[in-house]
Amino acid sequence: MIVIPGPASVELGKEIAEQLKAEAVSVESKRFPDGESYIRFDDNMENESVVIVQTTSPPQNENLIQLLLMADTAKELGAKTITAVVPYIAYARQDKRFRSGESFSVKTIVKLLQSCGVNKIFTVNSHSPNVLKTLSLPIVDLPAISLLAQHFKRQGLKDVFSLSLGKKGLDTAIEASRVLEGEYNVISTQRDTVTGIVTIEKKLLPIRNKDVVIFDDIISSGGTMIKAVAWVKEQAAKSVYVACVHPLLIDDAKEKILKNGADGIVGTNTVPSPVSVVSVAPLIVEALKNEMPTSG
Ligand code: R5P
Repeated sequence: MIVIPGPASVELGKEIAEQLKAEAVSVESKRFPDGESYIRFDDNMENESVVIVQTTSPPQNENLIQLLLMADTAKELGAKTITAVVPYIAYARQDKRFRSGESFSVKTIVKLLQSCGVNKIFTVNSHSPNVLKTLSLPIVDLPAISLLAQHFKRQGLKDVFSLSLGKKGLDTAIEASRVLEGEYNVISTQRDTVTGIVTIEKKLLPIRNKDVVIFDDIISSGGTMIKAVAWVKEQAAKSVYVACVHPLLIDDAKEKILKNGADGIVGTNTVPSPVSVVSVAPLIVEALKNEMPTSG
């Protein structure tokens, strides 16, 4: 097996290669003056099981094109199989036609990857695991919430209230509370499909004088998390930390969340960012080893 750490996930890709004791192929990449992407490999792919590690967080279109170029090139250079490790899958939130005539974007992305020779995708806490199961490629969705919870445990937080948000929130809160050994709950969120404005459920919680960690899969604009932090503060929690798998943190989302009362923000390195202190490499390596036991 050889690992290609794509330009958007160089550190994570190298970490995965090291833990797998596999060769990490160097990739030459550049952006032409008009914005187009260039990719070149410094290695032979003939008959190799190739693992490409490339996240597709912003700039998602560029990162996606690089991924497609890498996969198609590896295929044309004779790769036996191509596994794409895409820790954050762009367009996954457009997982159906919410309004008639809209694109079903994540389906299109998966079709493109398939047409470029990708045989299988590994991702982390995808937005819609059930939808991904219906698409044209096998997609393995890995859960990283307990890695985030372990981070808070290592920091010495005890009797933590694990709070989660949104549709898949209950599973997330249970996963976190298994590690943090405290109470948990979930508050629902709703986003207006036209304006994009989020409202959160004003649920009363037993969190007075408690340390609370709010878990979510993604923080993008920060709008959802700011409202959740404010609601937790309003109920007199002792501290409120924020944890997310994919810290997109668009523009000044991080600063806004901290300014609105969060005591800290922690994310994973599915998306490189200043808060990406928890590595998902062990999770991915274990999954790759389990799924590809015979690859050499
Ligand atoms: C929604 O389903 C997700 O779990 C996140 O809550 C959402 O994507 C966060 O977006 P934003 O940070 O823009 O409010």
